[in-house]
Amino acid sequence: MTSVEPFLVIQQGSSRYPVFVGRDLLGRVGSLIKPRGRVFVITSEELTARFGKRVAESFEPHADVVTMREGEPNKTIATAEAIVGELLARNAKRDSMAVVVGGGMIGDTAGFAASIFLRGIDLVHVPTTLLAQVDSSIGGKLAVNHAKGKNLIGSFYAPVAVVSDTSILASLPAHEFLSGLYEAMKGGVISDVALFEAFESQREAINAREPEVIDELIRRKIRVKAEIVSADEREADMRRLLNYGHTIAHGIEAAMKYQGITHGEAVAWGMIGANAIAVRRGLLPRDEAGRIERTIRAYQPSAITGLDARAIAAATEHDKKNTGSSRVMVFPRRVGECVVVSDVTEEEIAYGIDAVLSS
Ligand SMILES: NC(=O)c1ccc[n+]([C@@H]2O[C@H](COP(=O)([O-])OP(=O)(O)OC[C@H]3O[C@@H](n4cnc5c(N)ncnc54)[C@H](O)[C@@H]3O)[C@@H](O)[C@H]2O)c1
Ligand SMILES: [Zn+2]
Repeated sequence: MTSVEPFLVIQQGSSRYPVFVGRDLLGRVGSLIKPRGRVFVITSEELTARFGKRVAESFEPHADVVTMREGEPNKTIATAEAIVGELLARNAKRDSMAVVVGGGMIGDTAGFAASIFLRGIDLVHVPTTLLAQVDSSIGGKLAVNHAKGKNLIGSFYAPVAVVSDTSILASLPAHEFLSGLYEAMKGGVISDVALFEAFESQREAINAREPEVIDELIRRKIRVKAEIVSADEREADMRRLLNYGHTIAHGIEAAMKYQGITHGEAVAWGMIGANAIAVRRGLLPRDEAGRIERTIRAYQPSAITGLDARAIAAATEHDKKNTGSSRVMVFPRRVGECVVVSDVTEEEIAYGIDAVLSS
């Protein structure tokens, strides 16, 4: 077998971790990583037979498999505590390693459990959705939800490695795939013109999930996020750029009660709304906004159904990233360049939401 090299090593504060991206890596995770002690693969019942077992058996001796419940309603401190309990029951120690196999829900919940178990054990992410590969597995943010809102309990905790097997994306449901695609497209608008252009010129290949094209998108998006998070490990300024499209997206998702639309699709609409505000402010030329909107629509995000503008606006207010009364938002100046603006008014947000609903 040929050796597999990380395509990138991310430096974040005092942590450094390799990121592997390629085909058929699930069965090779054990050879890419050197655990200090016992290995615990944490995944869901659903994903155990599909992926978890293959990862566990790639270690010698084979890793234990711990299962947890899937689904956003289970992304709770109770689930994280149950994982901690399971690790204790199986005698995991400080030198044990958690290898977390799943989408962002599992990555966040099991990753958070690993970050608090005995004050933190080595963590490896094996993301299995496109969204997790291009977004949630990179950057070291982990969180679970609280009754008062999403991702309110969490930690910054860098993994020791990320292994993304892109061949397993073949089985991803269409809207889950689309969710990751829009997060990747967002990365193009933020800082990578070539990444955005790939979405413009290679739509058929992307929709057909052609391996070379998809792998290249994934690598480019990871690089965009890696550059931002290594420049700014904590949520200060640069990291805010990643929130492009997210203010209105959070409003849409919350108002739709997280049903009928994936996160990335909500971000697609949120980008259109942010762009409308940016055009009105004179930051973004109308043509460039049109170009971004055409590309977003070409991939056909799920429609926003049964909502009025006020419901969306009210739901954006729970966005924890906004501190004072005026809002922080990210606006493009052109594809590949965005700015963080901190004096956005409620009226402007309402204007952006109207632009989405009437478009
Ligand atoms: N930590 C971060 O920085 C960060 C960033 C973005 C999102 N997130 C979090 O990520 C979560 C969303 O993650 P997601 O979009 O990956 O969804 P998800 O983890 O809920 O997975 C979606 C569905 O896809 C299934 N699935 C996973 N891999 C599959 C595969 N290869 N083939 C077929 N089905 C598969 C899962 O079983 C699940 O039913 C949210 O909780 C969000 O808050 C975290
Ligand atoms: Zn997002």
